[in-house]
Amino acid sequence: MSMIEHVWNKARMNKKCIVLPEGEEPRTVQAAAKVRDEGIAKPVLLGNPDVIRSVAEKTGTDIAGIDLINPSDSPKASDYADALFELRRAKGLSREDAAILALDPMYYGILMVKLGDADGLVSGAVHSTGDMLRPALQIIKTKPGIHIVSSSFLMNCPNPDLGQNGLLIYADCVVVPCPTAEELAQIAVSAAETARVLCGIEEPRVALLSFSTKGSAKHELVDKVRCAVEIAHEMAPELLLDGEMQLDAALIPEVGTLKAPGSPVAGRANVLVFPDLQAGNIGYKITQRIGGAECYAVLQGLAKPCNDLSRGCSVQDIVNTVALTAVQAGA
Ligand code: ACO
Repeated sequence: MSMIEHVWNKARMNKKCIVLPEGEEPRTVQAAAKVRDEGIAKPVLLGNPDVIRSVAEKTGTDIAGIDLINPSDSPKASDYADALFELRRAKGLSREDAAILALDPMYYGILMVKLGDADGLVSGAVHSTGDMLRPALQIIKTKPGIHIVSSSFLMNCPNPDLGQNGLLIYADCVVVPCPTAEELAQIAVSAAETARVLCGIEEPRVALLSFSTKGSAKHELVDKVRCAVEIAHEMAPELLLDGEMQLDAALIPEVGTLKAPGSPVAGRANVLVFPDLQAGNIGYKITQRIGGAECYAVLQGLAKPCNDLSRGCSVQDIVNTVALTAVQAGA
């Protein structure tokens, strides 16, 4: 069974309510119908119901049984505005501005998740990463023990000798441009958790990547990765985690044995932590575009799951991201 089939099945076992703030967007409407048909989650579309119905008609989509909520005339909007005001008043948000923001489908959806009226959120077919991420960071905040939100990419590589039968988890490829050592450690621990929850990997083996393996090069950037390894060991002593190491030392058994003898991770890593966002973002795109890997992205570290799509996403991408979000919500 493929990784994503495993995720779909897991989502079906514990059906969660996932809100889609871009409810008037055609791919989103079609994805909601597929999510309902496949029994992956209970989708909720936000937007003007007349517009949503007309999009459904134009795309030949049956949306019977899917909840449609118009934030502008929702009886809950005022409670959501109150909650938003309380959460952000110390940051200078006025009651009037909170009332306006709560009617914005993105804020409304995030407040639904915050207040327990939905279990998770998926958006990004229309909005940019920052448009969703900023309110999620401000309102949903982080899980206990984690103070940095980051991302993991689940990379399904054609070569089954790599990682976990070809599956590798890459972090962080979307969120934190220039992590400190402490943040890098948190990203590593969160990525191991993502590997367990979404990929069913019982024993994540986490490599913190660098251009140096175990002191082969001296540079302050290498020192940062070494420091992150120490902090991560303190945060999660039971976790198989090592670094700093080069990519070949992390993945290829003979190179791992040569460059990092005795390492519990070298040569058999299934979670790769990149030293910064430039490396992570470039790394996942090389693996996808040149290496031919399928990839699925999730955010990690948020107290409740919200996930972002690429604006070029397909209906299938949205359905998959809803499934991933539902599994995160059930963890
Ligand atoms: N984790 C937890 N909290 C965070 C994080 C984080 N990673 N980043 C910011 N915050 C908090 C801040 O503390 C602040 O909280 P507060 O208002 O309660 O004090 C709040 O979020 C907003 O912070 P800002 O600094 O105002 O937000 P910023 O403008 O820096 O935006 C963002 C944050 C959107 C995550 C930014 O770091 C960013 O743009 N990252 C890169 C995103 C990107 O473009 N990725 C690549 C493309 S996507 C792709 O290729 C698939």
